[in-house]
Amino acid sequence: MSKFYVFFAFMMLLCCHSCQPTGNNTQFTIAFSQCIGDDAWRETMLDEMRRELSFYPDIEFVYRDAGGDNQKQIQQIKELLEQNIDLLIVSPNEAEPLTPIVDSVFHKNIPVIVTDRKTSSGLYNAYVGADNLAIGKLAGQFIVHALNGQGQIGIVTGLKGTSASIERKKGLLDALDSAGTVHLGVEIQSDWERNTAYAQAKQHIEQLLEQDIILAFNDQMAFGVIQALQEAGESHKKVIGIDALPGEGNGLSEIVNGTLFASMLYPTGGTEAIRTAMAILQRKPYKRDNILGTIVINQDNAGLMMLQSNKIQEQQEDIDKRQKLIVEQNKIYRDQQTTLNVLITSLVLAVVFGGISVIVIKSNWEKNKHLEKQNEEILSQQQQIVEMNHQIQAASEAKSRFFTNVSHEFKAPLTLILAPMEELEKEKKLSAEGLDHLARIKRNAKKLQQLVTDLIDIHRIDKEQRQLQATSVQIDIFVQQLLSSFKPLSQKKRISLSYISKTPLKELWIDEYLMEQALSNLLSNAFKFTAPGGKISVIVEENTFGDYLLIRVVDNGSGIASTDIDYIFDNFYQGEQQLSGSGIGLAYVKEIVELHHGQVTVSSKKGAGSSFTLRLPTGHSHLTADEKAGSLNKARQTEREERILTIDTLTEEKPSFYSSKAPNILIVDDHTDLQLFLKDILEHEYNLTFAKSYADAFSKIEKSYPDLVVSDIMLPDGSGLDLLKMVKNSPQYDKIPVLLLSALDTEETKIEGMRLMADAYLTKPFGVDHLKAVITNLITSRRRLRDHYTSILEPDDTALNTTQRTAQDRRFMQNLDTIIEEHLGNKSFGVEDIARAMNMSRVQLYRRTKNLLNNSVNEYLLQRRLTKSKHLLLDGLDINEVAQQVGFSSGAYFAAAFKRQFGTTPSAFRKGKLKQ
Ligand code: FRU
Repeated sequence: MSKFYVFFAFMMLLCCHSCQPTGNNTQFTIAFSQCIGDDAWRETMLDEMRRELSFYPDIEFVYRDAGGDNQKQIQQIKELLEQNIDLLIVSPNEAEPLTPIVDSVFHKNIPVIVTDRKTSSGLYNAYVGADNLAIGKLAGQFIVHALNGQGQIGIVTGLKGTSASIERKKGLLDALDSAGTVHLGVEIQSDWERNTAYAQAKQHIEQLLEQDIILAFNDQMAFGVIQALQEAGESHKKVIGIDALPGEGNGLSEIVNGTLFASMLYPTGGTEAIRTAMAILQRKPYKRDNILGTIVINQDNAGLMMLQSNKIQEQQEDIDKRQKLIVEQNKIYRDQQTTLNVLITSLVLAVVFGGISVIVIKSNWEKNKHLEKQNEEILSQQQQIVEMNHQIQAASEAKSRFFTNVSHEFKAPLTLILAPMEELEKEKKLSAEGLDHLARIKRNAKKLQQLVTDLIDIHRIDKEQRQLQATSVQIDIFVQQLLSSFKPLSQKKRISLSYISKTPLKELWIDEYLMEQALSNLLSNAFKFTAPGGKISVIVEENTFGDYLLIRVVDNGSGIASTDIDYIFDNFYQGEQQLSGSGIGLAYVKEIVELHHGQVTVSSKKGAGSSFTLRLPTGHSHLTADEKAGSLNKARQTEREERILTIDTLTEEKPSFYSSKAPNILIVDDHTDLQLFLKDILEHEYNLTFAKSYADAFSKIEKSYPDLVVSDIMLPDGSGLDLLKMVKNSPQYDKIPVLLLSALDTEETKIEGMRLMADAYLTKPFGVDHLKAVITNLITSRRRLRDHYTSILEPDDTALNTTQRTAQDRRFMQNLDTIIEEHLGNKSFGVEDIARAMNMSRVQLYRRTKNLLNNSVNEYLLQRRLTKSKHLLLDGLDINEVAQQVGFSSGAYFAAAFKRQFGTTPSAFRKGKLKQ
């Protein structure tokens, strides 16, 4: 749009310019070189010229006044020539000195008009002025006539070298000669100026007084002579002048008032000079000699002449006024024309631009429509892409799930192959050949197990696992801890391992776990490819702008071949040397670094070593809220909670071996084969309950309060880790040991398991003996702990009707035990309190206890107090303290009850036990 306005302004300027009055568009330049300009005669000449020129507004008129100085006039003409004048009007001061310069103008083909005075060469195009020879002659004839043919005269000539003076004198003398009786009495050489003539007349006054008539070659000099004569007392001497210029104080008026005797009319010729110039310039016919008429003016005709001249003057002034008016009108007209032109141009432009605008708007509208259509298409394509993306994502997630599941599915049958094989190996009866076969099977199963592990490793670069969980980490501590784990290796391989920190930066936002993996990977590689005696350094520094931290792992090992260097970060690329187990090590590093919004680069020289640089952004503004630790777990939690709500109901409870003495184990695994296998190996020693899902397990823990939970991590409706968390975070169940039995053989899962207080973590495939040993350990140590710190009674099949106990009964007992345990130190705690705590009536409580324990509540409470006292006695507490802690009001009462129950006093019991 701004272009449009610039164009519009340009058009307007152009238009205004074209509307300017043509007068400014100069056609010709006329120069006028005046010999002297400050007398009335020449001023009149100039006025006439200007008046005439006003009819030619296209003419530029350049006027120069030489002030009666020949050299000055020559110089001025030279300068005029440089201005590219088209015509020169010149009134040469003196003929001889001015002739060469005027000739040179003529030779340059610049038309020359001489006026009033001439040059001596005659090289000019035209002459304008009166005939000075004729004027001289006329003056002579007039004098002869005035003197009646008898007398003598004095003359005052003009500047010596001026053609006017020379010619006038010649004409005069010719006329006097013809008459023969009038003589030239005195000649005073002057210079056309009144003052000079006055001074010279003063000098020659005596001679002048003797003359009958005095002729001055112009009126001005005549006035000077008259003044000198008057001063000498002579006021009647006849003095004649030349010019007879109208106007106050000039020749004509002085004749009328009798001061001047007569004057020869000498026309100024300004008008004629311009007319001739225009004719020459316009290539119209013109005359070379334009001789202006002359007459004698004396008392006889001066009055009339003055009247005429005044009339002419008036008319001239009138003409001037009209001319001025015309000029003003012209100006107004031109202004109006300019305005009109501007308006017309604006209108035209408005119409043109209006038209253009309509076209542009139309084309824009069409383009917009087209764009809108394209936009719609793009939007719909985008929509399709988004949908396709979702589909791809869903497919990829399904693939990923499938991949994970299949990988883990491989693990379970492998367990089922490897575990019975361990059992088989113990068989003494096997032949050598059988053992051989077995060894081969085992080798291949192990190989398969390794392949599955590798596959899972590769799959570890999975979307969900790759979610960054960054926290602010102390770099120094982080790197040093990492390096310390490589110390044994560096000592073993005799490779120096150093850490150089060049940065004052203390903290870096990273996912500590992932970054440890990335750096471990790089360090492992460095160790792998560095020979004993070599050197590995980890250098930490900031880049110049401080917006990135650079962590370099530099070694002087075998280096990387230049053919490999471009590909080493590609997935599964292994190059000349295998860099990691699955060929994913460096790709994994790259993945981790890019997750941190950083870059990893390598520079290496074969045989000289390698340098890997991790470039990680400083600060945390580059991280999204999701990438900061805490966000993911919450999201996952919500997702899982939602899934739990839609879970299928519990699996069928299978009847199982039951012994009241045997510990109860809840096995949580959805793999039926594995359940069966575990049943095979454990059912003879333990009471087993099975659950196939998180929800199932949850409810079974509530119901049966098992002695141990053995759980897989990957459950159909959640994670074994969540189950673990639930157990360990509940004060009711937190004593139940949990063994995680999972195919997930990753450090992170193990660490997570431990963090959530798993009591043990075994990976599938597991050794049967190992599993059994871990189960035994967990149960025994838990029992010991319980026995030591609680009052739970040993189960007694005969006394307690435990074989018939239902899960409900076990739950009742569990509650009862927990309540009693909590209040054992309260001596006033009794049946009433227990019934209230269990939300039962006293009678209900009594019946239930009697039925299950074959005992009253009070008796059971007493037994619990006394059982606990045994542990406390063995812990070294004195009798009174023990009595107080198990709720007896006095030591004596406690001792009596103890003796009654165990047949020995508390102190004898302690002594006896300590001796054992
Ligand atoms: C004016 C004038 C006139 C005279 C003429 C001669 O400068 O002196 O009075 O007639 O020049 O060139």
